[in-house]
Amino acid sequence: MADFKTTVLSTLQNGKNVIEQIDALKKTGTDYSINADRTDRTINKYHNDNLKLRVNEIIEVNKDVKTFRLVSDDCMLPVFKSGQYLNIFTVIEGVRTSRPYSISSSSKQRAYYELTIARVPNGFVSNFMLNEVKLNDVFEASNPAGEFVFNPIFHSDKSVFIAGGSGITPFISMLSEALDKGQKRSIKLIYGCKDYASVLFLDLLQEYASKHSNFSFDLVLTNKDEKVVTEVGFINKDIISKLVQDIDDSTFYICGPQIMNDFVVKQLEELKVKSRWIRREMFGSSPNIVTENGWPAELNGSEVFTLTINKDIKVKCNANESLLVALERNKVRVNVCCRSGECSLCKVQLVAGNVFLSKGSLLRHSDEKFGFIHSCKAFPISDLEIII
Ligand code: FES
Repeated sequence: MADFKTTVLSTLQNGKNVIEQIDALKKTGTDYSINADRTDRTINKYHNDNLKLRVNEIIEVNKDVKTFRLVSDDCMLPVFKSGQYLNIFTVIEGVRTSRPYSISSSSKQRAYYELTIARVPNGFVSNFMLNEVKLNDVFEASNPAGEFVFNPIFHSDKSVFIAGGSGITPFISMLSEALDKGQKRSIKLIYGCKDYASVLFLDLLQEYASKHSNFSFDLVLTNKDEKVVTEVGFINKDIISKLVQDIDDSTFYICGPQIMNDFVVKQLEELKVKSRWIRREMFGSSPNIVTENGWPAELNGSEVFTLTINKDIKVKCNANESLLVALERNKVRVNVCCRSGECSLCKVQLVAGNVFLSKGSLLRHSDEKFGFIHSCKAFPISDLEIII
């Protein structure tokens, strides 16, 4: 005679399927319905949605740059590919926000992640990180994410890294992956900084260059400095042509402030480098959105609009802040990771009104068709209604 559980399930729509699935799971040794808690705990141990990371060490690089060594007390740290980033969540002045930071430590070890963070003038989060964060503070963080990685199938074995300022951080991890593991691909680093004092990881770069014949680097300083023989100015096409032997045959990876990033891409385009050979890492949008091409001439960025959320919440948003920042400022929670139009987690549906989409917002055709936008890349240019 059928037991009670079987009888109940049989009366449900698709109950037969459920029974068959449970039977199949039992045969393979895992009855998920009985062990759900235990199974979830095991999965979470290795694949948490979000991580809890504790500050285990703080290394002061200079007064405006610190390296934070982060560990987990409750799970194995997920593996990552060199070049990926973590999105760090924090609450500052009652506002929950986040910032993506490239991992600078080696992907060879999983005891900790290191993030090297530089102060951004008036930076809401960077100033908090550098001024307020102390040992044993705990942060929520995303899993490692991002596509700014070397892919041996698609990328040339001649890599050119172009870094600006603290944009060196993903390259430090990528160098350790390539050189410490004995990869034979050739790597040229062109590193742009204001002056010699602001060059990060110089000792490590010199050590790598002295030990590995397949790696070399050049500093390009905007301030003339007599101490070193180097290039002076911006990383333009003349400097790139002078320093890179095989332009046609190299994959270029660029990481640095948006202005430098855009400038270098333009220089590479003028050197006829195909876009598929240019990889760029960019976090956030232009610091001054009104200067971006296509911004409506009649607006100067000081306008304030009304944002209606899910038909009933009304808040104010500024033309010069992304929708994501406006939502965070008004304590409305949305999913977020890259803050640069890549991961799609921050998508919202625009029901009425107009936004300016900053460049780099990678929307699919279906998103465009149904009015979905990346809130991290959308700037209000009229009153808006959105659905989250
Ligand atoms: S946070 Fe990734 S696309 Fe906006």
